[in-house]
Amino acid sequence: MPANELTFPAGFLWGAATSAHQTEGNNVNSDWWAREHAPGTSTQEPSGDACDSYHRYGEDIALLADLGFNTYRFSLEWARIEPEQGFVSRAALDHYRRMVTACHEAGLTPMVTLHHFTVPRWFARRGGWQASDAPDLFARFTEAVLPVLADGVEWVCTINEPNIVARGVDEANENLPNQVYALPDPGVSQTLVLAHRKSRTVLSALTGVKSGWTIATQAFQPEPGSEQIAHIYGYPREDFFLEAARGDDFIGVQAYTRTVIGPDGPKPPGEDAEKTLKGWEYYPPAVGQGIRNAWNLTGGVSVIVTENGIATSDDSRRVAYTTGALTAVHEAMTDGIDVRGYLHWSALDNYEWGSFRPTFGLIAVDRQTFARTPKTSAHWLGQVAKSGRLTLDASRQ
Ligand code: BGC
Repeated sequence: MPANELTFPAGFLWGAATSAHQTEGNNVNSDWWAREHAPGTSTQEPSGDACDSYHRYGEDIALLADLGFNTYRFSLEWARIEPEQGFVSRAALDHYRRMVTACHEAGLTPMVTLHHFTVPRWFARRGGWQASDAPDLFARFTEAVLPVLADGVEWVCTINEPNIVARGVDEANENLPNQVYALPDPGVSQTLVLAHRKSRTVLSALTGVKSGWTIATQAFQPEPGSEQIAHIYGYPREDFFLEAARGDDFIGVQAYTRTVIGPDGPKPPGEDAEKTLKGWEYYPPAVGQGIRNAWNLTGGVSVIVTENGIATSDDSRRVAYTTGALTAVHEAMTDGIDVRGYLHWSALDNYEWGSFRPTFGLIAVDRQTFARTPKTSAHWLGQVAKSGRLTLDASRQ
């Protein structure tokens, strides 16, 4: 192996991720749609047709496969599948079964998220995750989607970023995850753990399904003397959720940036720091810290990087960022951590919870015609995926 090349094992999951609300379009029965159109909303623009992936998923899947990826992570939309409490749409289930089939036909391993931030309006109206029976309702939803998963889905993420969900509706509207990251509601955090466990129990009816949840890791970095402050700050925001994943089949790590903690808590990035279109510090090694924290706190549960990426309009920075991130992933694996895959966020330039401006996609989407155009980074990462080799180019950093 040349010194400037890193190799990844055969069978490594290489993919890209999306979520339903951010890509499908017209998710009119969800709490997010309601919020986007509420009088005085703080969202900058509504999701509208998003990427029209509800109709164009076949094209998305074919593109990812052609580029060289072997895995596609997408989410099921609860608001479509159970539009009213207890009423399950067979047509919506059929839609997601077709997505799973399309993945298999294209040679992609589907990874399915059951809940990615949005809920049906009826669920939100009765208190959302504050309601004491929310875990039972989520378990029932899990039961409803078993026919989709029974079609040969191996990897299931129950709840996406429960640590972001628990910090409440208003904050979820703001920049996700950022330096000043609101404290999760401890009651909601417990409810989400229960919902996750109940969902996993339902999923255990299917042999061959591996289930876990995916956590927004924040790479908390204390300044000297602020270690205890960083622990107090970080525990309810990250560690609590990682510890709850002990015994799961895998743990999803989702990393974007770091959070430096000083004596007064989190600090904004320095003035000289390179910042992304989200205002976050450009910090590729964050994923390495997330992987290590997940591995240590779960007591050695297999890790999958279920999201990692950068909002930028300069695609060469995406390649550089991802090179740095994959180097950190590889270092963690060299140190003996069982990392099973790397899924880039995002497959498409999609709806970034309030605005289309922060572009995370490997594939550009024309907002008028929905035409998809893979960026240089998509071809580059697809090639890394296909070969299992990452060439380190000194000109990139
Ligand atoms: C979420 C995605 C989001 C991304 C970038 C994660 O918090 O799972 O839905 O688009 O980060 O903000």
